[in-house]
Amino acid sequence: MNSSLPPKEFFPRHIGIIMDGNGRWATQKGLPRSEGHKAGAKVFKKITEYAVDLGIESLTYYAFSTENWRRPPEEVTALMALFREYLEEAEDRKLENEKKGMRIRFIGETDTLPEDIAHRMETTEQESAGKNAAIVNIAISYGGRQEILHSVREIARQVASGALSPEEITQEHIESHLYTEGQPELDLIIRPSGEKRLSNFMVWQSAYAEFWYSDVLWPDFTEQDFNRAIWDFAKRNRRFGGV
Ligand code: IPE
Ligand code: IPE
Ligand code: MG
Repeated sequence: MNSSLPPKEFFPRHIGIIMDGNGRWATQKGLPRSEGHKAGAKVFKKITEYAVDLGIESLTYYAFSTENWRRPPEEVTALMALFREYLEEAEDRKLENEKKGMRIRFIGETDTLPEDIAHRMETTEQESAGKNAAIVNIAISYGGRQEILHSVREIARQVASGALSPEEITQEHIESHLYTEGQPELDLIIRPSGEKRLSNFMVWQSAYAEFWYSDVLWPDFTEQDFNRAIWDFAKRNRRFGGV
C-alpha cells in the first residue's frame, strides 16, 4: 500500500485545480511570463497522468478564465499557442489516453476562442467521448457566473415556450445545463500560489467543496503536493449542514 495516500474510499471523486502562479514563477527566475505558462503546461500533463493512474474519477482544471482575456495580447497569444500545442499532442497521444480510458472535455465559452483551437477541441472531445475511466475537464475561456447565466437562459427558453413553469424549476434543472452535467459534484479544490479565492471557478459546483491552498507555485507543484491535498481532504469532516 502507498502510505503517502489514504485508502481509496477516502479519495475525492471530483477535484478542481486552479493552476495559478505561472507568472510569478517565471518572474522570480527572470524569465518572461510565457515561460511560466510553458512550465505550468508540463505540470498539468504530469499531474493528470498521475491522478488518472491513481483512479481519480473527475478532474477539472482551470486553464484560462473569461477574465484572463484582459491580459496583454502577447500573453494571451502565448497561452493560445500552448493550448494549440496541447491539442496537437493530444491527437498524437490518442492511443495512450485511450488505454487509460481518459475522456477529455473542454468547458467554457469555446466560441470566443480562435476557430482552429475550437475545432481541435471538438475533435479531441469526440475521439475520447466513449471513455469512462476518468473525465478530465479543461476550463478555457471559462467563467462560473457565465456558466450559470447560460443555464438560466436555457431554462428561461423552456419557460417561454410553455414547457416548464417557474414553480417547477429545481436545482436539478440548473445542474442539467451546466458544463459538468452528470458528473459528481466538486469535492476538493486545489489552489496553489497562495491565493485564497475562487476567481470565478465553478461557482455553483463548489457550494460544498473543500479547499486546499498552498504557497507552492503551479510550475513547482508535484505529485507529493497532490498526495498532501488528498490526505488533507480525507481527514476533513464534511457535514453538509448536518451535525
Ligand atoms: C495561472 O498563472 C495561469 C493563468 C491564469 C492563465 P498566472 O498567470 O495567473 O500566474 P500569476 O498569478 O501571475 O503568478
Ligand atoms: C485564475 O487565476 C484563473 C486561472 C488559473 C486560469 P488568476 O490569476 O486569473 O486569478 P486572480 O486574477 O488572481 O483572481
Ligand atoms: Mg494568477
